[in-house]
Amino acid sequence: MRLAALILALWPSLGTAQEFFTLKGHGGPVMDIATAADGTIATASFDNSVGLWRDGAPQWLDGHEAAVNTVLFDGDTVLSGSDDFTVRLWSSPGRIIGRHQGKVMGLAAAPGLIASASWDGSIGLWPLDGAASRQLTGHQAGVNAVAFSADHRTLYSASTDGTLRSWDVATGLETAQILRHGFGINELVLNHDAGWLAYGAVDGVTRVIDITTGAELRDFTLDRRPILALALSPDGGLLAVGDGEGYIMVIDTTTWRIARDFRATLRGPVWALAFSPDGQNIHAGGLDDAMYSWPVASLAEHGQMADTERSFLRDPGEMENGERQFARKCSICHALGQTSARKAGPTLYRLFGRRAGTVTDYSYSDTLTDAQIIWDADSINALFDLGPDHYIPGTKMPMQRIADPADRADLVDYLRRATQPE
Ligand code: HEC
Repeated sequence: MRLAALILALWPSLGTAQEFFTLKGHGGPVMDIATAADGTIATASFDNSVGLWRDGAPQWLDGHEAAVNTVLFDGDTVLSGSDDFTVRLWSSPGRIIGRHQGKVMGLAAAPGLIASASWDGSIGLWPLDGAASRQLTGHQAGVNAVAFSADHRTLYSASTDGTLRSWDVATGLETAQILRHGFGINELVLNHDAGWLAYGAVDGVTRVIDITTGAELRDFTLDRRPILALALSPDGGLLAVGDGEGYIMVIDTTTWRIARDFRATLRGPVWALAFSPDGQNIHAGGLDDAMYSWPVASLAEHGQMADTERSFLRDPGEMENGERQFARKCSICHALGQTSARKAGPTLYRLFGRRAGTVTDYSYSDTLTDAQIIWDADSINALFDLGPDHYIPGTKMPMQRIADPADRADLVDYLRRATQPE
């Protein structure tokens, strides 16, 4: 059984040659990764927490009320943005520094100022001294990524509306629409000193453009889509690209050659990438609960990051229907073992006959704690026939219905077996 206590497989001891290692402990997929100059790694997870890893051991930063999409180091301070619409700063105690009307997807830091990209279509500017915040508006759809120029006077943004724009930080006004790509742009990274910006889009386009003119300098588009992650090594010499098909491509930005290109997962995307401070390792995250780190120099040797023991990475075609229902619709948020394992929802261990809201290692909404429900075949069936939002109005379990009565019956049968003690 996989418990939160499982820490890591391998950790390179300081000063020795770089090695492959994994960071394990999150209860859900790793959504984003950041590295501090001293090598500390921060991971944002679907399990609502941020993991802070020093020498391979995690410290959990808990507080977000939904999946954490983005994480950033500002010096040695950690910042994060979440599906709960907030931007948090994790000095002790952690505090909310920004609030959007939609998911927070990207962050950037300037001295004393944090910028956030949100699916509410705006960019938030949040001064750390408590001065008034500002919203930069103009994008026609969700904003996915932001980056400051080296002098912090200009902010660049990428949006689902298919444009890249620049903004004057002092006035908050849009200065240029640098590029109109047409398809949504998911990611951007800036190498201001070298004068270029790289972006990755929904249609698989990966391009490098001149920051001032918007002219295309290089095109690394392959037949893989969408592009979900971009990372630049601290010295700007390597650019890594992660895509929806599970590949990581590493581009040498001096020669503009593809230095490595390998399939990092058996199934599923790579949506989180970051370089170690020395640029020697590339850290990656996708559907798996673990973060994987490869020495760039050895990428040809390690070709996989998939952990095939995980049910949602197993071939669903090999499962019977009830197990498949659980793997596809529940396993991302619920464990079946004795602990909730840092997942977004409580463990379903010994679910039958259990009163709602009573798992002790899980923090429920008041609605569920107060609900007078005993979980059995009928109540679980009703939960997904009506949907949690109708069956227990006010629960934080997301809306989801299972329309086919046969699928619900198979799921209940599977849960009856899988939630029993061995
Ligand atoms: C995206 C995350 C998510 C998914 C997917 C999800 N759940 Fe949940 N579930 C939750 C959360 C969060 C709670 C706790 C809700 C609260 O406290 O209001 C919960 C609560 C429950 C409970 C009540 C447990 C208790 O201790 O009272 C049951 C039963 C349950 N879920 C079953 C399922 C099943 C079966 C599926 C798949 C069909 C599923 N859930 C899918 C997040 C999820």
